[in-house]
Amino acid sequence: MPNQTIYILSIESSCDDTSIAVLKNQTVLSNVVASQKVHQNYGGVVPELASRAHQQNIIPVMHQALKEAKIEKTHISAIAFTRGPGLMGSLLVGTSFAKSLAMALEIPLIEVNHMQAHLLAHFIDDAGQEIPSFPFLGITISGGHTQIVKVTHHFELEVIGETLDDAIGEAFDKGGKMLGLSYPAGPQIDKLAKLGNPKSFDFPIPNVKELNFSFSGLKTALLYFIQKSQKENPNFIEENLADICASYQYTIVKILTNKIKKAVKQTGIREIAIGGGVSANREIRETLQQLALKHHWKVHIPKFEYTTDNAAMIGIVGYYKYLEKDFCGLDVTPKARFGF
Ligand code: KG4
Ligand code: ZN
Repeated sequence: MPNQTIYILSIESSCDDTSIAVLKNQTVLSNVVASQKVHQNYGGVVPELASRAHQQNIIPVMHQALKEAKIEKTHISAIAFTRGPGLMGSLLVGTSFAKSLAMALEIPLIEVNHMQAHLLAHFIDDAGQEIPSFPFLGITISGGHTQIVKVTHHFELEVIGETLDDAIGEAFDKGGKMLGLSYPAGPQIDKLAKLGNPKSFDFPIPNVKELNFSFSGLKTALLYFIQKSQKENPNFIEENLADICASYQYTIVKILTNKIKKAVKQTGIREIAIGGGVSANREIRETLQQLALKHHWKVHIPKFEYTTDNAAMIGIVGYYKYLEKDFCGLDVTPKARFGF
């Protein structure tokens, strides 16, 4: 613990959530998220609408974050922001805002990789949450990402598996759309699955090399299955919705957990930390807890607030980078594709 108190104001705008947080060292003083409702009618995020909404939201969100943190702008030590990966138009809003703030306040600017932030969210000091020890396997599962990352240090991360096509959240959202559910369908499938039988229908588990994932075949399998079943019974979806959701979700969870088991075997690492919006899924949480008991793994699941896209996770990376004096220049530009 440094003897100095560091206040980081952090900005996240990579997709469809405008979020600003204030951290005092590893503790979150505020974490305000404005989720954009505008995309609900389109079945997915519309990039142009997302960047416009960020423009509208970012100043009120910052005022709210400072108010909740009970802090003046002049006390902030540095500004951290998401440089990428994400939607270029959305990233541009957060990046430009971060640069202007750092320049006006004459304080350092810190660029943050959004995927690293999902993993380091586990290091937020939150009473009762145990912090992972190195090395651990970070599993980032959301609407935009599906990765298995070997984390040996805060700044030593290696992607050892990732999706070759759709992200796991897209499998939920696109599958849900076929079933007539609104965007995002993940939480609805989760709820409906609870009422159905996961063994009602069989969907294929893809045979993908090494620790990589593929979800597009499953999505197509669901489409053909629905089309075929509706030919025989036009009310097939309405009459079997819970069973279809349960079986579809069961398959997604199986694809994920099969690869996690393989990653544990391959690396010998038994400590697992999940992050990203899909980690809210009840069946994923329960299955991982069961596997942890059976195989003596340690599983870390962060508080929901820090698992979906949020600025507090950007702030914790900002804090560690501040300690290393890892600052960036005001000429920094966003990167839609941004590796570790
Ligand atoms: O991390 P996140 O808020 O945003 C990014 O995509 O980066 O994740 C959103 C994704 C959506 O695909 C949503 O359907 C999914 O997380 N999701 C869930 C659940 N809650 C959110 N998927 C399955 N079960 C849930 N309970
Ligand atoms: Zn994310």
